[in-house]
Formats: sequence, structure tokens, C-alpha cells
Amino acid sequence: MHTVERLPVTLVKGQGARVWDEDGREYLDFVGGWAVNSLGHCPPVVIEAVVAQSQTLIQASNQFYTIPQIRLAELLVQNSCLDKVFFCNSGAEASEGAVKLARRYGQRYLGGAYEVITTIGSFHGRTLAMVAASGQPKFQQPYIPLPTGFVNVEYNNIEAIKSATTNQTCAVMLEPVQGEGGVNLPDDNYLLAVRTWCDQKGILLILDEIQTGIGRMGTLFAYEQYGVEPDIMTLAKGLASGIPIGAILAKDRASVFAPGEHGSTFGGNPLACAAGYATLKSIIDNDIAGNARRVGQYLIAGLEGLRQKFPFITDVRGRGLLVAMEFVSDIAQSVVMACLDRRLLVNRVKPNALRFMPPLIIGTKEVDEALGILDRVLSTIAG
Ligand SMILES: Cc1ncc(COP(=O)(O)O)c(C=O)c1O
Repeated sequence: MHTVERLPVTLVKGQGARVWDEDGREYLDFVGGWAVNSLGHCPPVVIEAVVAQSQTLIQASNQFYTIPQIRLAELLVQNSCLDKVFFCNSGAEASEGAVKLARRYGQRYLGGAYEVITTIGSFHGRTLAMVAASGQPKFQQPYIPLPTGFVNVEYNNIEAIKSATTNQTCAVMLEPVQGEGGVNLPDDNYLLAVRTWCDQKGILLILDEIQTGIGRMGTLFAYEQYGVEPDIMTLAKGLASGIPIGAILAKDRASVFAPGEHGSTFGGNPLACAAGYATLKSIIDNDIAGNARRVGQYLIAGLEGLRQKFPFITDVRGRGLLVAMEFVSDIAQSVVMACLDRRLLVNRVKPNALRFMPPLIIGTKEVDEALGILDRVLSTIAG
């Protein structure tokens, strides 16, 4: 089905930060499978884990324990502020499950409160409920009427959250930095103010770290940079190097599902969890988040240099290796196409903005190469 405007390229191979098309052309990949290929394409440590696990046990029903699932859950819990994990298969499924968990909490402790406050410009996935949660009309309009139980308020505005809170509210759900919405960074004190408000009202804070988590922003999880701890956190994308996986993590007090209240056939299967364990262990052991932080600063400085040179660049923003460049007009698609011609893959996040989300293992050499291509492309546009 034609759900995405595809670029005219068929990719057949990937290694590190490079991919190749069917005619053997090589590209530098600053899209990274939409912020998934944290360790680059086909990282040997993940290949090894997937091959070994596929020869041992690929799927088991969740009525049984499996070793990869337990190992990955332990690693996540040991390295985050959360206590419990539920595995699923995608980001949308994780966000949707997080909302179910919050509703369950509302039923149990908040007199049946069920509403979740989310923000305009957010993105939480494509299921019907997550379309309602994601505060973007372009995703919502085609599916009206939407499921109820979501209030979309202005991002980065604590007063908007306060005024939307009622005795029906069970949670606030936010991306620490809005990714799909254009790499929108909050003010430094926003998340802390939201945390304080949630505590005051006894409601839950859900952080959707599907895009920001697993090192992308320069720390293992973005919440670490904002001095807050979520009650519930969702992960997917970078967790298993491209083998589909999602995860809901919760503090003990918010982990209120009883047996039978939620589930998944494939969620937490041994293959995906083995890939997830190998990915996460390698990210932690090799301080890949630190690399994302350092190389991200280098990338932002380089893009800032381009902004000085080309007045039609209005903004450069981001943290770690989640970065955007905004233009005064809607030229992002033509920049994407011109970069493609010069063998650089970048993402058009808005008609007037590009998003850069390369593998977290890249170095300054790859950044220089990307900046050189962008410079040439932008020069032709300027000329
Ligand atoms: C913050 C955030 N949440 C949820 C999702 C949905 O994830 P998936 O496409 O795996 O369902 C995305 C995907 O872009 C995302 O960026």
C-alpha cells in the first residue's frame, strides 16, 4: 500500500553508517532506519547474537520464561530508574500499552480517571488510540472520529497541562524531545515542572523515549538530562538494532497490570530479546551514548557554521545525534533529493526542516563528509 512517499532507491546492503543500493552505489546514512540503527547497520555483535539465538529458540509463548527476555529485562532495569518491563513489538504498541497501564492505574487508585494529557506536535505511533494521542492534525484528520480519552495541549507550556488536568486525568504522556514533530527541545525546567505537577496531583508521568532513548540524545535515556524520573517509559526503535521490539518500563508502584490484562504473542520473543540484549550491552559497555554526545556537538557546530553561511537556514537544534535544521521556506524535500544524488541520506521531518539521526557510532570524519555534501547542496540552492 502506498503509505509513504518513497525515494527512488532500493537498498540491498548496509554496514556501519553506509548503505548500498542494487546498482552498488554507496550512501552515507544519516537516517539510520528512522533512528533505529544505533550501532550502525549489521553490527557483528548483534549478528552473532541473532544467529546463535535463531539456532536455539526463536519463539516461545509468554507462559514460559526464556533466558534472553530475562537478561534484557534485567539489563534495562539495572540501567534505568524503572523496575518492571513488558515487551512488545513496536513503538506504537509500547505507547498504547503504556496508556492502558495508566488507565489501569486510574481505575485502581484515581477513582476511574482515564484521560491522558499529551502535547501538540507529539508523535506516539499509528494505532487508532495513538493517533488520538499524537497531537498532529495530519495524522488525526483521516481517521475521525478518534478514540476518546486524550487531551492535546501546547508543548513546553506547563500552564497548559495544569489547565487541562481534571479529576478524570490519570497521566501526562510526553516525548522528552519531540522527534517526529521536528526535534523540538523543551525549556530546561519544563519536564521538572511537569514531574512536580504530576506528583502534586497524584497522576502518572509517561515518557515516550522511543526515539530519544538508548543513547540517541547523548545519555542512555533523555530523562537523565532533565533531572526527572518517569513513572512509565516506552522504548522501541534503537533497542534491538532493527529486529522489531518495543518495551514498556514502569516503576513498581505503577506496574499494576494483573495476569491476563495485557499480552502479546511475539512480544519478548527470544530472538528480538537476544538482539536487544546484544545491542543494549554493547551501547552501555562502549559508552556509545558518550560518542553520540560528542559527535552530536560536533555535528551541531558544523550545521551552525552552515547557518552562518546560508541566511535561509533559520535554526539548528538538537541534542546528541537527534538534530534538525530548519529553513525559511519549504525546501526540505529538494535538499533531501539533492543530497541523495550526492549519496547522503537525510530525512525531511517537516516541509521546511531536515532531521539528522545517524547511527550513534559515527565519528567526526563521517560528519565532515555529510557537512561537505550539505554545503555543496545548499550552495546550489543559494545560487
Ligand atoms: C516518539 C515516538 N513514539 C512512537 C513512535 C512509533 O513507533 P513505531 O513506528 O515503532 O510504532 C515513534 C516512531 O517514530 C516515535 O518517534
